[in-house]
Amino acid sequence: MQLTQDGRVAEGGLDIRELLRVKEDENHGWWMWSAWYLAGILLLVTKRYAKKTWTLSHYLHAILGYYTLIVTIVWSFKVIEWRFDEVHYVFGTITLFVTMLGSLSGIFTVGVMKFYNGDKDWAEKEKVEVIAKIHRFAGYFMLLIGNITIANGCFKYFDGILQGDQRKLLGFASFFSFVLMVIIAEAIYRIRNKFSLGHIKTPQVVDGGKF
Ligand code: HEM
Ligand code: HEM
Repeated sequence: MQLTQDGRVAEGGLDIRELLRVKEDENHGWWMWSAWYLAGILLLVTKRYAKKTWTLSHYLHAILGYYTLIVTIVWSFKVIEWRFDEVHYVFGTITLFVTMLGSLSGIFTVGVMKFYNGDKDWAEKEKVEVIAKIHRFAGYFMLLIGNITIANGCFKYFDGILQGDQRKLLGFASFFSFVLMVIIAEAIYRIRNKFSLGHIKTPQVVDGGKF
């Protein structure tokens, strides 16, 4: 509001949403988005689609996994108050714990593949595959719940804190573009394999530590 020279009250050009902005929440949002959207799609690409550069992809996947884990823990604990009265609080807290367990299953998968190869009981291909399967399932579940949490986090910030800001739609855009990327990558992968345009095989577990 502004008082003009002739004594009338006019719009002062003040954007109320600028006043409502919370820097810490925005940082929380950007870091989480980088961990679950950007690193998220790369986590999938490095393990499922980029198998021709298997060793490099394997290490990249692990590094990205640690990045997502650390960012999720650090930026959750910066805002957490253990509330459960809003959708984003519930999803945020669940994502935090699912990420800790899911990343542990990844670390365990690598550990079992490396350390138990000489041990008869554990070296069996089937057992390694069961543990890998658990992490694979956890991986897809984490990517799904992580990106749902991004969507409701955007909604919480733009609709709730910025009081009805239309940029809440960015949450849906983020979620659906992520799903679309996965569908496109999977379609290309299947078409290539079907027509044998350079079949992308999963390397097999063999004796002696290579997998
Ligand atoms: C997978 C991604 C995300 C996770 C794991 C996550 C996790 C969390 C957690 C654990 C909380 C605190 C809940 C509680 O107090 O019980 C929280 C709060 C919040 N998050 Fe997220 N979040 C994510 C993405 C986002 C995004 C993209 C935004 C968009 C800006 C966002 C905005 C917020 C806001 C505004 C709060 C409330 C902070 C406060 O009241 O001080 N979050 N989030
Ligand atoms: C937030 C963290 C993580 C996510 C979202 C994630 C996601 C995934 C996904 C979706 C797959 C299956 C890909 C496929 O279809 O083949 C996978 C496989 C794998 N991940 Fe992760 N991962 C994470 C963390 C980690 C970590 C920290 C490690 C190890 C240090 C790891 C090691 C592996 C390994 C070894 C496989 C291959 C398992 C197999 O042979 O099927 N992951 N991950």
